[in-house]
Amino acid sequence: MAISRRERVRAWFAAELRPDGDGRDGLGKVLLASLRASGYGAVGAGFGILALYTIPILLLAGFLSLLGLGRVLVAPSMQWVRLLAGLERRRLHRLGHEIESPYAGPDADPPASLGELRADPSARRDLLWVFLHGTWGLIIGATLLQMPFISVRDVTYPLWWTFVPDSEQQILNGLIETNSQSTAVLGFATGIAVFVLWLLFGPKLLDLQARPGVHLLGPDPDIDLSERVARLTATRAAALDAHAVELRRIERALHDGAQNRIVAVAVLVGAAKREIPRDPDRAVDILGRAQDTVEDALAELRAVVRSILPPVLEDRGLAGALNALASDCPVPCTVDVDVPGRCPASVEATAYFVVAESLTNVAKHSRAAGASVEVRRRGNTLTVTVADDGRGGADAGAGSGLAGITRRVEALDGTATVTSPPGGPTEIRVELPCGS
Ligand SMILES: Nc1ncnc2c1ncn2[C@@H]1O[C@H](COP(=O)(O)OP(=O)(O)O)[C@@H](O)[C@H]1O
Ligand SMILES: [Mg+2]
Repeated sequence: MAISRRERVRAWFAAELRPDGDGRDGLGKVLLASLRASGYGAVGAGFGILALYTIPILLLAGFLSLLGLGRVLVAPSMQWVRLLAGLERRRLHRLGHEIESPYAGPDADPPASLGELRADPSARRDLLWVFLHGTWGLIIGATLLQMPFISVRDVTYPLWWTFVPDSEQQILNGLIETNSQSTAVLGFATGIAVFVLWLLFGPKLLDLQARPGVHLLGPDPDIDLSERVARLTATRAAALDAHAVELRRIERALHDGAQNRIVAVAVLVGAAKREIPRDPDRAVDILGRAQDTVEDALAELRAVVRSILPPVLEDRGLAGALNALASDCPVPCTVDVDVPGRCPASVEATAYFVVAESLTNVAKHSRAAGASVEVRRRGNTLTVTVADDGRGGADAGAGSGLAGITRRVEALDGTATVTSPPGGPTEIRVELPCGS
């Protein structure tokens, strides 16, 4: 089958526009490299304009926060900065630079206050990039965009000079002011010069424009590594701690729950035995109570077993398991799970535990009329949010449940945030990395 003309053109462009410039030789290659530089430079200039307009917003947010007024501005503007940085990362990816996004673990959320900003190296690097790209990057991008146009305009200058009426000539002035045929020819020369400069330096200018992003938008190699080591040491300790706490919890649950009830059963059976010769009816009564207590003990044992590694997770997956939890909750609760595929077992178990503990709290403490569970997986992050419209005031210092959530989550390198102002509402938000 004959290759269509369109197909041929596309193949030609694909070969010419390959980032390593492995297309054809000679002038065509140089010209295409410069055209490509101008194209990507122009896109960079577009981001540069956005960055330039972001600078005053950032300054305003910073200034107002210093006065104690602008806290609400910090998080959204940092979110916007991340969006912009993400766009630049994608542009750099097209240019052959692989820049890994540095927001992970405790840095997953953009900083919401100046204090958090100071403690977050990746946010500070993003800001530096905004300043550099809004100035330096914008100027280079605008230059790259204009160079081919300027060269075409100036090279054709003598033509304009000859054919445009005298009164209109003024608007055509290029890099030099023209008022005679000889200066018009000089205009032609500047056009050639700009064209040659564009051919020679276009790709280099593009490289200069990309440089701040390449250096600033990835993870900081030094800080990141030492921070990561510190974090891993802490989370390893937390993992061991969580394990010990978990054993203690199981021991306590068995001791306070099932064991107590079985002791009670033993006492009741003893009493019934003594009553049989004296008062059989009363003995039957006592045996009935003993039976109820045994059933309670069984229910408690089941609850303990379920809390260790819920079999329902294995059988019905995360969505099914969470629905089962929600239907057991006395407060009406909606469940929304959007998790394509399955996450590692430890992540699913932790998510399950978080929801189980949070819903127990909703039932025990919140006096809420409704609750919601939302689980989402975006990329390699699983986000679990449990919210209720109750009275708020959850305090991790006041019990062991919320602290247990934090410990378990940190053991997996995740983050847990509790938002619960007095008067409500309460929201527990957990992010877990779930590398596939
Ligand atoms: N959803 C909630 N609504 C209101 N208060 C809560 C909620 N969750 C927890 N709390 C409060 O925070 C405290 C700590 O909770 P937690 O660490 O789970 O301990 P525990 O449940 O064992 O008391 C609770 O004692 C309760 O006062
Ligand atoms: Mg609790």
